[in-house]
Amino acid sequence: MTTLVIGAAGQIGRMIIKKMHAAGQPVVAMLRKPDSELEALGVDIRLADLEEDFSQALAGCDKVIFTAGSGAKTGADKTILVDMWGAIKTVDAARQFEVKQFVMVSSRGAEDPDNGPSAIKHYSVCKKMADDYLLASGLSYTILRPGRLLNEPATGGVSTVMPTDKEAQVITREDVADACIHCLKTSDTINKIYPLVNGNSSLSNALS
Ligand SMILES: NC(=O)c1ccc[n+]([C@@H]2O[C@H](COP(=O)([O-])OP(=O)(O)OC[C@H]3O[C@@H](n4cnc5c(N)ncnc54)[C@H](OP(=O)(O)O)[C@@H]3O)[C@@H](O)[C@H]2O)c1
Repeated sequence: MTTLVIGAAGQIGRMIIKKMHAAGQPVVAMLRKPDSELEALGVDIRLADLEEDFSQALAGCDKVIFTAGSGAKTGADKTILVDMWGAIKTVDAARQFEVKQFVMVSSRGAEDPDNGPSAIKHYSVCKKMADDYLLASGLSYTILRPGRLLNEPATGGVSTVMPTDKEAQVITREDVADACIHCLKTSDTINKIYPLVNGNSSLSNALS
């Protein structure tokens, strides 16, 4: 089973690629531009842009992890074009290529954009629209909705219960990367939506 990671040059995507490649798990990196680190590792790379015709990047791939995002430094236009429209077009391409599992890195707040912070409501709406499109696609999906991302090393402990205290709604990027990889390994995670923060459970206990 070969997995395509979309957003593979990003912080979570890069960790997924490096971990899977090191473990000998077939993985393909979709990147917008050449990347000397991933090239030096011998990772299979497909250059493509979510704002252009990228569907051929999925050819020959059995699973997809979508962890791309336009980031906080760009405007709402890019959030629409990348986080929402890029994700929706990836779902269409995944159907075209009969992908067996689609793991979406969504976000806390996507479950109910009206009740989140108004400053990022457009972002939460985009994430929700993409998630809803995946849910209705007929594809086997796993949707992860992490809290605010931290750069510390993985803790190995997660929880799928989003704390009411917003300050506690955090998880390391490496734990999210590990969760994505875990989701590929077990059918327990198929057709599930998981809020995700750091906590006291192992991935296999939390994502069951
Ligand atoms: N920040 C948070 O607290 C938070 C919380 C929950 C969820 N999330 C979500 O978690 C995900 C991953 O986070 P992260 O920290 O790993 O993000 P990141 O480091 O910003 O990586 C995002 C990746 O998306 C790629 N990308 C952007 N536009 C693209 C396009 N048009 N075509 C192809 N790729 C494109 C970027 O490519 P380039 O390298 O070429 O720029 C980058 O590699 C994002 O979807 C984010 O919305 C974030």
